[in-house]
Amino acid sequence: MKNILVAEDDRSLREGLVQAMARCGYKVQVAQNGKEALEKIEKQVFDLVIAGHRIPGSDGLEILRKARSTNAGTMVIVTGENGTGAAEAMRSGAFDFVQKPLSLEAIEIKIQRAMEHQRLVVRLTSMTESQIDPSDRYGLVGGSSAMKEIFKVIDKVASSNATVLIQGETGTGKERVAEAIHRNSARRDGAFVRMNCASLPDNLLESELFGHEKGAFTGADQMRIGRFEMANDGTLFLDEVGNMSANTQAKVLRAIQNQEFERLGGSRTMKVDVRIIAATNINLETAIKEGRFREDLYYRLNVVNLLVPPLRERIEDILPLAEHFLKAFARELRRRVNSFSAESVKRLQEYRWPGNVRELENTVERAVLMCEGESIRPVDLTLLDREHTVGMTPQLAADLLNLEQLEKTALLEALKRSNWIQKEAAKLLGISSRVMNYKVHKHGITHDRWSKNRN
Ligand SMILES: Nc1ncnc2c1ncn2[C@@H]1O[C@H](COP(=O)(O)OP(=O)(O)OP(=O)(O)O)[C@@H](O)[C@H]1O
Ligand SMILES: [Mg+2]
Repeated sequence: MKNILVAEDDRSLREGLVQAMARCGYKVQVAQNGKEALEKIEKQVFDLVIAGHRIPGSDGLEILRKARSTNAGTMVIVTGENGTGAAEAMRSGAFDFVQKPLSLEAIEIKIQRAMEHQRLVVRLTSMTESQIDPSDRYGLVGGSSAMKEIFKVIDKVASSNATVLIQGETGTGKERVAEAIHRNSARRDGAFVRMNCASLPDNLLESELFGHEKGAFTGADQMRIGRFEMANDGTLFLDEVGNMSANTQAKVLRAIQNQEFERLGGSRTMKVDVRIIAATNINLETAIKEGRFREDLYYRLNVVNLLVPPLRERIEDILPLAEHFLKAFARELRRRVNSFSAESVKRLQEYRWPGNVRELENTVERAVLMCEGESIRPVDLTLLDREHTVGMTPQLAADLLNLEQLEKTALLEALKRSNWIQKEAAKLLGISSRVMNYKVHKHGITHDRWSKNRN
């Protein structure tokens, strides 16, 4: 998990940033003054530092220099008033300078970019191009012929602006593939912006996609830019694109076709340069037949079609993926476990994986937590019995298996019951405080009470 330090003396700004970062799944620490920030930087490695230019006890530039000299891979974003210090910050190696007042959305995007930049820097300094193996280059593990085919398509489409429609069952890695296309494309320095089109009711979705002008509707007390604008010069990933209403589909079609749109409540036509990648786990051809999806939009999206096959159809990928997750979780959870027993390997390979790679990832995570020795045994693997999954649609089985969501619900419930005291909640759930803390971070759960305590 990415480790971020927010060094900012303005309390409400600091809390806003912390919440936004936690929502994005980052691990966040805070420093209220310069001294505290410098101390923290000395003791640990941060992926990103956001430093207020005029923070008391030091200043943003000193924090910047310290962070960059401690670890060249640390990205620093300096924030300040009307451009003072901007030039100097950039000269001293800041990734970016952001003017106050900050828009949280804008800063989220800058952070995403900084993280992408960091990945590239780290990768380039640690190896030469010829040594980069495909899994690294694409961020995708797997050497099956299906995956090799996917790598080929990624290479082909990356250099173009063609719209790509990625289809596949839930958890197969569609979003990962979309990111790989963006990262290998000429737009890699632009933002990769996601929008889950199934997560919001119609009017909210449109306002997210296209933004709105001040006063566009009750509660719109400020102008807000939408995802199309945020993705300008970059890539917009429209996830679960099959679930949009007819009205929204029409607007999206126009925005893609003409690269222009209006913000809600506005009359000005905004021009953008955005590459669209869409994904869906429903069958769009069926949706068209049933009149739920516009055919013209389908053709517009489906310029290049990429199908990510379910894991059970690429059994060779199971073990490399399982080992990749094992390494990652063992490191993250600080466990010594380093292998799967022969019997566990057999189980993993025989299982049908209705929830695909996501289910495998969750299974390995639980196994690492359960495992008592260095090798994962069959008892550590919680897999649904074959009898349970036979006859179920993949979707139904995957929903049942969406343990991640269940886990989050359980965490929230336990926290509520124990008045947001993590230690108490951990007791209720029968897990250690350390595991509790890890899970809380992983799910991006935050509570006002915690940030107050931290400050
Ligand atoms: N080839 C891969 N290598 C490494 N990790 C992968 C791979 N494929 C998927 N994952 C991981 O599996 C999880 C699910 O992947 P992702 O979110 O891309 O799936 P999805 O197809 O978009 O699922 P959904 O339809 O439910 O949105 C993620 O944590 C992702 O990082
Ligand atoms: Mg997805």
